[in-house]
Amino acid sequence: MRKDFLWGGATAASQCEGGWQSGGRGMAVVDVIPQGENRLPVMKGVMDYRNLPAGSYYPGRDAIDMYHRYREDIALFAEMGFRCYRFSFSWSRIFPTGEETEPDEEGLRFYEDLIEELLKYGIEPVVTICHFDIPLALVEKYGSWRSRETIGCFLRYCEVIFRRFKDKVRYWITFNEINMIMHLPFMGAGILIGQEENSLQVRYQAAHHELVASAMATRLAHEINPGFQVGCMLAAGSVYPYSCRPEDVWESLKQDRENYFFIDVQARGEYPAYAKKFLEREGLVLETGVEDEKILRENTVDFISLSYYNSRCVRTDGGGEMAGGNVFESAKNPYLTYSQWGWPIDPLGLRITLNDLYDRYQKPLFIVENGLGAVDQVDGDGNINDDYRIEYLEAHIKAMMDAVEEDGVDLLGYTPWGCIDLVSATTGEMSKRYGFIYVDKDDKGQGTLGRTRKKSFEWYKKVIAGNGAVLK
Ligand code: BG6
Repeated sequence: MRKDFLWGGATAASQCEGGWQSGGRGMAVVDVIPQGENRLPVMKGVMDYRNLPAGSYYPGRDAIDMYHRYREDIALFAEMGFRCYRFSFSWSRIFPTGEETEPDEEGLRFYEDLIEELLKYGIEPVVTICHFDIPLALVEKYGSWRSRETIGCFLRYCEVIFRRFKDKVRYWITFNEINMIMHLPFMGAGILIGQEENSLQVRYQAAHHELVASAMATRLAHEINPGFQVGCMLAAGSVYPYSCRPEDVWESLKQDRENYFFIDVQARGEYPAYAKKFLEREGLVLETGVEDEKILRENTVDFISLSYYNSRCVRTDGGGEMAGGNVFESAKNPYLTYSQWGWPIDPLGLRITLNDLYDRYQKPLFIVENGLGAVDQVDGDGNINDDYRIEYLEAHIKAMMDAVEEDGVDLLGYTPWGCIDLVSATTGEMSKRYGFIYVDKDDKGQGTLGRTRKKSFEWYKKVIAGNGAVLK
């Protein structure tokens, strides 16, 4: 692996920061996504968060309180030898309603201190500008990304952070898992969908606004500092045909394209032919600006970042079981094992996905999420022996290294998801843990918030120290 390979870990403000009422932060989408049976309909934008029963629990509001504990957490990351740390800014901490003309200084100072703390240990910050996050006021006033107004608000936010951190942050990611807008539009992009509306029309229009905003942010970033590296981000995982039946193969290609669509625009600079035909067939007409095509064409990303948890599988014969637990529809793949939450485990799928993406785009890739959500037990001595996590990560790192060393994929780094336990995005649980660091908090919000090193902590430290050469 290259000597400067960015080993690290990843989190997002919406799932770890908390401090929702501290430092003048405005309300954000995550603050109104509850735990429990209403979570999925709210995340999908089909249930209005304003109609939730009183007493609902919102786990993202306090999360693991990294807002007040980041120094302790960063010291632990440094102890593992992190070379980078991916995290996100909370937009409403900097612009509480998204529309102020001046940013909130206290919010900016919080991130400045956090970044200084990282730099003190030589840890490279990798900032996601928008990770399932938008000021709630923009949702209420403009319907979030439905409206072109939101592009202007986003760019004002980008301009402030690019200027403030011009000499401190090099890697920027515009939107986390941009394709998630199709699956969880409220969580991904603050989009509520009315019963009478054409949901596809709403989602593709909002996606267009995000794509244009991402390209304009990329232009702005390069104007402010030509050395900035700006990336897009895809919830990746190649789709396998269940069989060699041509219909299965064709369906897998189509499903891959539903995800590639976003990256095709962000990395190649235009709507691909298949997407234009799709919109036409569905009778979707997007409102666009006269300059949009030019903006998209001239401002493609510098790198492509991705999350990889599993591959997907499709069959068209109407038979078979579906894989549970995943927002992406997927047939159950009989050759794979499954996690406690029903997510497939497929390390070779990571090598396949990396190759697919690199063949298609020929731009540097960055794995900014990967990991196993599992229940951890603290034993009588206070230890957490998470061998299952080590096994998962070891196999995935091996596959990643094969993609680099055997196949020639250009890979910038690897930041496993939830390097410290945090709130699960899909379920809102704490018990779905990914971390090397255990956080004492349960699904009901109870616990001391104390941090404990798991067995995987020492293991990952060795992996980084050996630059991936030692995996055992
Ligand atoms: C990705 C997201 O989809 O997967 C993260 O970018 C999320 O925000 C992660 O937490 C894992 O999903 P979950 O539902 O297990 O938290």
